[in-house]
Amino acid sequence: MSNFGDYQDDIYGQGLAGVLPSYPMTYADWEAHAQQALPPTVLSYVAGGSGDEHTQRANVEAFKHWGLMPRMLAAATDRDLSVELWGRKWVAPMFFAPIGVIALCAQDGHGDVASAQASARTGVPYMTSTLAVSPLEEIRRHAGDTPAFFQLYFPQDRDLAESFILRAEKAGYDGLVITLDTWIFGWRPRDLTISNFPFLRGLCLTNYVTDPVFQQKFKARSGVSADALRANPRLAADYWHGLFGHSVTWEDIDWVRSITRMPVILKGISHPDDARRAVDAGVDGIYCSNHGGRQANGGLPALDCLPDVVAAAGDTPVLFDSGIRTGADIVKALAMGASAVGIGRPYVWGAALGGSKGIEHVARSLLAEADLIMAVDGYRNLKELTIDALRPTR
Ligand SMILES: Cc1cc2nc3c(=O)[nH]c(=O)nc-3n(C[C@H](O)[C@H](O)[C@H](O)COP(=O)(O)O)c2cc1C
Repeated sequence: MSNFGDYQDDIYGQGLAGVLPSYPMTYADWEAHAQQALPPTVLSYVAGGSGDEHTQRANVEAFKHWGLMPRMLAAATDRDLSVELWGRKWVAPMFFAPIGVIALCAQDGHGDVASAQASARTGVPYMTSTLAVSPLEEIRRHAGDTPAFFQLYFPQDRDLAESFILRAEKAGYDGLVITLDTWIFGWRPRDLTISNFPFLRGLCLTNYVTDPVFQQKFKARSGVSADALRANPRLAADYWHGLFGHSVTWEDIDWVRSITRMPVILKGISHPDDARRAVDAGVDGIYCSNHGGRQANGGLPALDCLPDVVAAAGDTPVLFDSGIRTGADIVKALAMGASAVGIGRPYVWGAALGGSKGIEHVARSLLAEADLIMAVDGYRNLKELTIDALRPTR
């Protein structure tokens, strides 16, 4: 049986042939190298968070307040990290979180396709953002047989929301992730300082300008044809801005469930009461996240919210992100009860370093580290990894 940790054997084996790894091996180095590669506006948008970025840093720090307890004589020679979610088997409890500007982070400007290709090769599910450079249908094709999810920024126009959802279902997405915390954009000083908001420049709006409902409504008000719009999305940037964000209500969730058979997952839940309410509303998954500290500064680290959300969710799977930087972080979040863990900024840096190959390297490195920690600490599978594996470090 192969284990994710075998990636280190590949690297050491290459070393015997005199070949060093093409990409760095730590989060700090991925970030540092990517900073050299990215244009300043893209770097600012990716690296920045809201306010003085306290919550963004706290998300990362929170993991250091917990330590994993090793168990010996456990014979964890083979590990099974697979998990079944919404009727599909995932090779590992990790996924690529939705990143709106991921396309712009790869040197060829197609980091969304690159991510989906890395997803197909690694088996790590990809979440396509509403804000993308390639149409959601094309991205889904590149993800191959690996489960893939469409992340919806719920627009103010319900016809458009319906069109996005039905397109995603038709394209073969395995679930719909509705982001709740970004119907308005948080105060982001790094971007404000350079007056940088990519979407107002017409970037990453392809899902809108290729959408028949959007095209028809925009034409009715501006006379601009679908072809002209596709050729120059910036023409519709103001219109897009006006309808981008709807503050989603429970009634909207009922409506979504009435029009799609895809599993519905709510992203941005931190309070256990919201989790309970979501379960009562019949959603299929809860996604505990504070958007990487990009939306509301002054909040709690996402990890601190996870145990209560897990308890409130009962049997409903809980996805988690915000602050995952290492394989150890992944193992800790899983031990706290996450069903699967999303990586955000780490794979953005991978895209900047080497497109699809860079993303694959980041994913394989994180999984290898997580797997080797499970091996050394004596946890053979996710069932054995419970809250009992964790101790507070202070
Ligand atoms: C540059 C960037 C763009 C993002 N775009 C989206 C998006 O389009 N949709 C969404 O739901 N979340 C988006 N997120 C949030 C991520 O899905 C995830 O919650 C966050 O990256 C986790 O924090 P971390 O990267 O610090 O671990 C974005 C995050 C970043 C860094």
